Amino acid sequence: MKPVQDFLFEPSTDIGGCVLPLLGKPGSGKTIALTQIGIHSLEQEHTVVWRGTKQAQWINFVANNEKVVIWNHSSIDNFKSYISNIEIGKKPRYVDLDEKENIEIKEFEDAKELVKNLEDQAVNVVNVPGVNEKKGSFKKNIYFFRKTWIDILHALVDRKGGLITVLYDELGDFAPCNQQVKGKNFELIAEELPNLLAQMRKEFIWFYGASHGTHDIHYNLWKIKNNGLIYMSRANVKRNVTPETAQTDVNNLSRGEFIFDGYESRFELPKEPNFSIKWMPNTKKRYIRLEWTANTPNLIKEKNIKKEVANTLYDEFGFTQEEIGEVLGMHQSNISKLLSA
Ligand SMILES: Nc1ncnc2c1ncn2[C@@H]1O[C@H](COP(=O)(O)OP(=O)(O)OP(=O)(O)O)[C@@H](O)[C@H]1O
Ligand SMILES: [Mg+2]
Repeated sequence: MKPVQDFLFEPSTDIGGCVLPLLGKPGSGKTIALTQIGIHSLEQEHTVVWRGTKQAQWINFVANNEKVVIWNHSSIDNFKSYISNIEIGKKPRYVDLDEKENIEIKEFEDAKELVKNLEDQAVNVVNVPGVNEKKGSFKKNIYFFRKTWIDILHALVDRKGGLITVLYDELGDFAPCNQQVKGKNFELIAEELPNLLAQMRKEFIWFYGASHGTHDIHYNLWKIKNNGLIYMSRANVKRNVTPETAQTDVNNLSRGEFIFDGYESRFELPKEPNFSIKWMPNTKKRYIRLEWTANTPNLIKEKNIKKEVANTLYDEFGFTQEEIGEVLGMHQSNISKLLSA
C-alpha cells in the first residue's frame, strides 16, 4: 500500500505532477477524498486550488482548521451564503462568511491576476459562474465557465515556481464526454485541453478531478493524458485502461475506500463541519449553501464564426451569396453585409 500512499499524499517532484480522475457512484466519498488530498497537499507546501460550486463543500477544510480564500469572479453579484433548513419553507439563516474565522472573500477579474495572487497555506476556492445560472443563455454561460477555467490552467502552467494542487469536483461540468463537446467548446476541450494537461504535469501541477464515471468526462482526462484512475465504490472499471483492476473488487468497496494501481486503501473521514465549526448547527443534514447571480460576459463571437465561414465559402469555394445564405440560415442581404464587414 505504501507506493500509493506516497504517490497520493507525499507526491514526489521527481515524477512531476499528475492528472488523476477519481471515479465513483454518488456518495462513494469522492468529495471527501479530494478534501483529504487537499489537506495533505497543504502539508507538502503545495498551493491548493479548489473548484468552487454553490454547494460550498470546501467547508470541510474550515472544519479541519485550514484557511479558505474564496475568489469570486467579478461577474458574480449578490453573493450570499446561508445554512439550509431541515424544514421546507422555513426562512434560511444567512451568514456572513467574510467575518468567520479562517474564511476570506476576494474578487478576481481575470485568470492571470488570480494566479498571481493565489494564497499559499490556504485553500483557494475559485468560483467561476456559468453552471446552473438563471440569467443568460446556457450556451453563453457554459462557454464562459469552460473558457475561464482553461485560462486559469494556462496561467498556472505559465507561473514561475511553486507546486500546485488543483482539486476539481464535478469534473464533467468542465470537460464532459466527447459527444457533449460541440461547436466552440470543441476548440477548448478537445483541441486545447490535451496539450495543456501534458504541460501541467511537467510544470508540477497535481490535478485531481471527481466524477461518477468515465462516461461523464472527456476521454483526454481518463484515457489519453492521465496517470491512471482512482476507483471508488461501484465505479465502472475501464478494463483496457486499468487491466489490473477487477470490477468485483471495486463493487465491494465501502464509502471512502479506493483502488488505485491495483492497490486498495481508504481516505479517512476528516472532521465534519457540523461538529467542529461553532457557528454551524450541531446536527447532520444542515449544509452551507451559496447563492449568487452573474452577468457572464459573452465570449462566443457567433458573428465572427459566421463571417469566417462565409468568407471561406465565398473566396475558396466560389459559393454565391444566395448559397451561403442557405448554408448559414441567413438572408442573402445579410450575407453581403457579413462579407463586407
Ligand atoms: N472516508 C469516509 N469514511 C466515512 N464516511 C465517509 C467517508 N467519505 C465520505 N463519507 C460520508 O459519505 C458522505 C458522502 O461523501 P462524499 O460527499 O464525499 O461523496 P461523493 O462521492 O462526493 O458523492 P456525490 O457523487 O454525490 O458528490 C459524506 O457526507 C460522509 O458523511
Ligand atoms: Mg461529491
